[in-house]
Amino acid sequence: MIRVGVNGYGTIGKRVADAVAAQPDMELVGVTKTKPNYEAESAIRRGYDLYAAIADRAEEFDDAGVPIAGTLSDLLESVDVAVDCTPSGIGARNRSVYAAHDTPAIFQGGEDADVADASFNARTSFEAARGADTLRVVSCNTTGLARLLAPLEAAYGVEKARVTLVRRGGDPSETGRGPINDVVPDPTTVPSHHGPDVNTVLPGVDVDTAALKAPVTAMHTHSVNVTLRETPTTETVRELLDAEPRIFTIPEAAGIDGAGKLKEYAMDCGRPRGDLWENCVWEESINVSGRDLYLFENVHQEADVVPENVDAIRALTTDLSATESVERTNEALGVGLESLLASDEGDARDPITADD
Ligand SMILES: NC(=O)c1ccc[n+]([C@@H]2O[C@H](COP(=O)([O-])OP(=O)(O)OC[C@H]3O[C@@H](n4cnc5c(N)ncnc54)[C@H](OP(=O)(O)O)[C@@H]3O)[C@@H](O)[C@H]2O)c1
Repeated sequence: MIRVGVNGYGTIGKRVADAVAAQPDMELVGVTKTKPNYEAESAIRRGYDLYAAIADRAEEFDDAGVPIAGTLSDLLESVDVAVDCTPSGIGARNRSVYAAHDTPAIFQGGEDADVADASFNARTSFEAARGADTLRVVSCNTTGLARLLAPLEAAYGVEKARVTLVRRGGDPSETGRGPINDVVPDPTTVPSHHGPDVNTVLPGVDVDTAALKAPVTAMHTHSVNVTLRETPTTETVRELLDAEPRIFTIPEAAGIDGAGKLKEYAMDCGRPRGDLWENCVWEESINVSGRDLYLFENVHQEADVVPENVDAIRALTTDLSATESVERTNEALGVGLESLLASDEGDARDPITADD
């Protein structure tokens, strides 16, 4: 069993903890909190051992009646690998703490690429992670782009990808981040940092990105245009993406017109927290014109990096191949959403008249 500790139990950390606990070859030793709030209580309810992330604050947990099993140091002494899910910037500060305990560590995409020996995405860079002591799982947007561009590059070659990222303004729990009554270029400079970040896990693919943020919390939306080196048909691209286990192609007949219904569908399907671990590509948006491919996809920012973290743990600590690890992760979590509806039938979505 691979013994895992999760440092930082927020949006990503709680999901990574649940995903680790669901793996047959992993043991979740515990999670950390800086304070005994509702998330600390829910960790206890889930049966997870709780550790004080900041030793000086251990007493606060006792005072609040929240039992702890020790401090971060105790946790790091008991695990084979730590997954750092602390807010952006704190992970970099924690790097020396993990090194002092000789504990391999996985960081998140909010950190700069140089925080770790290698950046990680299971579809594109699993083998590059071999021999590393530390990995950085790339951000939600970068994960989504890498998953999409990798099969296109392998099948047809990517001459140039241009992607506009309409990013959610904040996560649902981030009351301090919104709502904004605007659509804001963010960053205002073009291209954005996302393209170079894709190249940390998918080198050599020419991709330019521009990013905005919008007053929504559910998901990011990507408007994608890829000039391919070959000229596939729309149908073969649909089949290619459909065969990717971490891409869900939404059939037209599903009548899913946006992130709201996507999340509703995920909840109806019994997904924990309504999580969508897969890229969600609108099937009828996939269109090839000459060598130009167009499509829309949505990425659930709270969820898509979660299976990647599980694979990163195996890449750091085992000899399992990428294929074996991804299959194991997908099986344990239930990744690989497929609609029961026929893909080319139905007329569930009414065309919208362009009036703006
Ligand atoms: N949310 C996303 O959309 C998303 C997507 C992909 C990647 N990421 C990346 O994942 C990382 C975590 O983001 P997040 O959204 O999960 O943040 P988050 O929701 O703010 O969770 C981070 C948690 O860490 C805890 N924390 C703060 N200081 C800490 C410390 N010194 N030691 C241990 N825990 C500490 C905080 O809880 P307490 O202080 O209450 O313990 C906080 O809830 C970031 O690098 C982010 O860029 C986020």
